[in-house]
Amino acid sequence: MGVEKLPIVEVADSKNRNGFRRIGIRSEECQRLRAHHRRRSSHVEDSLWRTFYSLTAGELCWPLYLWGDTGRGKTMAALCFVDVLGHCAWTDLDRLCEMLCRRETDWWEVFEEAECVIVDEIGGRDTVSSVDADAVKKIADLRERYGDRVAIYISNHPPEKIKELYGTRIFSRLCCGTIYQVTGPDRRMG
Ligand SMILES: Nc1ncnc2c1ncn2[C@@H]1O[C@H](COP(=O)(O)OP(=O)(O)OP(=O)(O)O)[C@@H](O)[C@H]1O
Ligand SMILES: [Mg+2]
Repeated sequence: MGVEKLPIVEVADSKNRNGFRRIGIRSEECQRLRAHHRRRSSHVEDSLWRTFYSLTAGELCWPLYLWGDTGRGKTMAALCFVDVLGHCAWTDLDRLCEMLCRRETDWWEVFEEAECVIVDEIGGRDTVSSVDADAVKKIADLRERYGDRVAIYISNHPPEKIKELYGTRIFSRLCCGTIYQVTGPDRRMG
């Protein structure tokens, strides 16, 4: 899946008293958010929505590291978040590596300017190549420098495995905020 860029609307740029970044949810989307929530409530678990709302309200620390076994609904949850965020870019790691190799600088600018960036499929391959590690570090650094760490990193791996696969520097960047494990059955298995 490619990167999705939504129009910028009402970017709330203030920090709350904890110093965590608050980000805007499209006001015109509030109704839809509620409807969406009801519609998808059986799909995205309530505690994950609550975590997401707390993050957007600046009550929890960014980034969100979302992990769980295959088919638990991580990507679907992330796409629900894209629907309600004002200006969010979504990519998977393979595409990010491609952008790095092809020097697609326009996309890196999108990731710099987006209010929130979601990177899916982190650590999806058996081994971590240097391009893979470079791409993850680059996006995490970009978000740290320009986006107050507002990002969602998605993986099948628990945080300890990220440390093992990518080393402590990338682990520190991805897992320094809020960690959420999506559990339940493999939804693909019906
Ligand atoms: N609660 C749910 N009930 C029914 N179907 C669901 C639910 N959550 C997700 N699905 C569906 O199950 C499939 C797998 O979901 P998704 O791709 O989000 O899983 P994932 O956790 O990202 O898996 P992977 O780790 O393999 O990428 C999708 O077709 C999705 O639409
Ligand atoms: Mg997925």
